[in-house]
Amino acid sequence: MAGVELENGKTVQELVEDGRNEPPNNYIWESDNFGIIDASVPFGDIPVIDISLLNNSSSSEVLDKLRSALSSWGCFQAVNHGIENSLLEEVRGVSKEFFQLPMTEKQKYARKTGQCDGYGNDMILFQNQTLDWNDRLYLLVSPEDDRKLEYWPQNPQSFRRILNEYSAKIQQVEEHLLKFMARSLCLEEDCFSRKFGKRRLIEARFNYYPLCPRPDLALGFKPHGDGSAITFLLQDKEVEGLQVLKDDQWFHVPIIPCALFVIVGDQMEITTNGIFKSPVHTALTNSNKARHTMAVFSTPEPGKVIEPLGELISDKRPRLYKAITDYMDTYFDFIQQAKRPIDAVKI
Ligand code: OGA
Ligand code: NI
Repeated sequence: MAGVELENGKTVQELVEDGRNEPPNNYIWESDNFGIIDASVPFGDIPVIDISLLNNSSSSEVLDKLRSALSSWGCFQAVNHGIENSLLEEVRGVSKEFFQLPMTEKQKYARKTGQCDGYGNDMILFQNQTLDWNDRLYLLVSPEDDRKLEYWPQNPQSFRRILNEYSAKIQQVEEHLLKFMARSLCLEEDCFSRKFGKRRLIEARFNYYPLCPRPDLALGFKPHGDGSAITFLLQDKEVEGLQVLKDDQWFHVPIIPCALFVIVGDQMEITTNGIFKSPVHTALTNSNKARHTMAVFSTPEPGKVIEPLGELISDKRPRLYKAITDYMDTYFDFIQQAKRPIDAVKI
C-alpha cells in the first residue's frame, strides 16, 4: 500500500533554532539490522576512477576497474569528469546561500504535503517513523517540460543558471558512463540508455544537515540504497559524514573535493541482474559543522519495464529479480520504515 503523507512537519533548521539540546524522540535512531550509529568506522578504500580514460580507444584495464568497482563497492569517486571545479564551487555556493536565507524566503518554495519537489524536511509517512536530520530542496530537472519552476529559487539570483549548467554537464557524464558501464559488461553501449528511456528523470536534491546536538542519537540520512539507476553526489568539501556498507561493514567515504561520488541505484542493480550493486549508505550528523551535499539522480522513465537484461541471465547466473515498473511509487514506503524496496523484487 502506498503511504500517504500524514503532515508536513517542522524543518530541522527550525528545531535547531528552538535551541533544543536533544533531538526530538522521532529523530532518535534505534539500531536495527543495519547496525548502530558509529562514527569510528574506518575509511573505505573506495576506487578512484579517471573517467576521461573511458573512451573509444580505452584499454580493457580501465573498463575492468569500472566493472570491478561497481560490482564490489557499487560506488566510486569519478575524477576528470570534465566539470570545471569553478562550477562545482558555484553549486556548493548557491546551495549554502539558499539554506542560509530567512525561513520566510525559503518557505516560498515549500514542498506541498505528499509531493517531492520543493523545500522541506523528511516526508512523514508513518507515525512510528524515524526522521532524518536533514532539510532538502528537491527539483526535477529533466524532462525540461515537466519542471515545476515555481519551486526553483530565484534567490540566490544565480541559482537557476547554475543548476541548469551543472545538470546539463551531469547529463553528459551520465550518458558517457552508461555507455561504458554497458561496455564493461560486454553489452551494446546504448542498452542502458534505451532501457531507461529518453525521458528518464534527472532530479536534483540539495541536502542540508544542520548542526546536531547529539550526533550519536540522530542520523542525517537513514541507511538506504538509492532508488535511481545511477546517482552523482557532490560531497561537502570539508565536512565528512557519508558512510557506505560493503560486505556487512560500514566505511567512511573520504572527501575528494573535485570528485563526483557515483553510486549505483537499485534499478541498475535489477537491470544488471545483481552484477552491479546498489550499496546501502547513510549520512551521520555533526555537532560543530553543518554539512551540505547535492545529489543528482537519474531514474528510468515512468512506465518503463525494468528487469534483468537477458544477456546477463544464464544457468550460472539465474535471474534474481522480477520485472517492475514505476519503482519509485512505493520506494519511500520501504525507506521510511528502514526496509529495502529491492528485497521485495527478489525472486
Ligand atoms: C542521497 C544521499 C548522502 C549525503 O541524497 O541519496 O545518500 O551524504 N545523500 O548527502
Ligand atoms: Ni542516497
